[in-house]
Amino acid sequence: MPHTVTDMNDKLTIALTKGRILKETLPLFARAGIEPLEDVNASRKLVFATSHDDVQLVILRGTDVPTYVRHGAADMGVVGKDILLEQGAAGLYEPLDLGIARCRLMTAGPVGWQPGAARVRVATKFVNTAREYFARRGVQADLIKLYGAMELAPMMNLADLIVDIVDTGNTLRANGMEPLEEIAAISSRLVVNKAAMRSRHEVITRLVDCLAEAVGEGADAPA
Ligand code: PRP
Repeated sequence: MPHTVTDMNDKLTIALTKGRILKETLPLFARAGIEPLEDVNASRKLVFATSHDDVQLVILRGTDVPTYVRHGAADMGVVGKDILLEQGAAGLYEPLDLGIARCRLMTAGPVGWQPGAARVRVATKFVNTAREYFARRGVQADLIKLYGAMELAPMMNLADLIVDIVDTGNTLRANGMEPLEEIAAISSRLVVNKAAMRSRHEVITRLVDCLAEAVGEGADAPA
């Protein structure tokens, strides 16, 4: 039977998170034998063929990676644990901690900030995670959803505290803030669509094993 355009759909599609995570993902994938056939940073393309005939990569914003994988538009993905905590992991297996892009999800406030009696105003893009965190601690928090530059919110008296990713701590320091409490240790995770894990079990398992080897640790079998 002649090959048709639908053969494209037989490729295993892996959704990668662009930006900082991508820089650490590509060397890891290269060690596992998957390399894009062109420089992803020098291209405006979103879909890339790879050195592995059966694997293609799509490069997305991290917040969109679970959506593509959950709906089966991508079979697998690489995404920060911060986003998985915030969005929930329904429809996804999380078989492997890739150990890259390590950072911490933290509360932070202006240097010397002391809690008062009143409710605390918290600016963050991680509203679900933050809401759960403060509720667990019995703190009355009003969550304010922002999409970036969280550090500005206390300075402009929009919020008392923020919940954000802290890596070096430089962004906080540069804006007169300090980290307070750690909510979660973050790293990038491999996620797999649940239906794909059944229908394409062999190829996906092989890939997870290769990536686990590349990470230098054994992968737990998905539940
Ligand atoms: C994250 C985070 C902080 C910064 C922390 O933003 O929101 O602003 O990194 O890193 P640091 O502790 O090393 O200073 P990122 O640059 O990832 O951009 P984003 O706001 O688009 O997520």
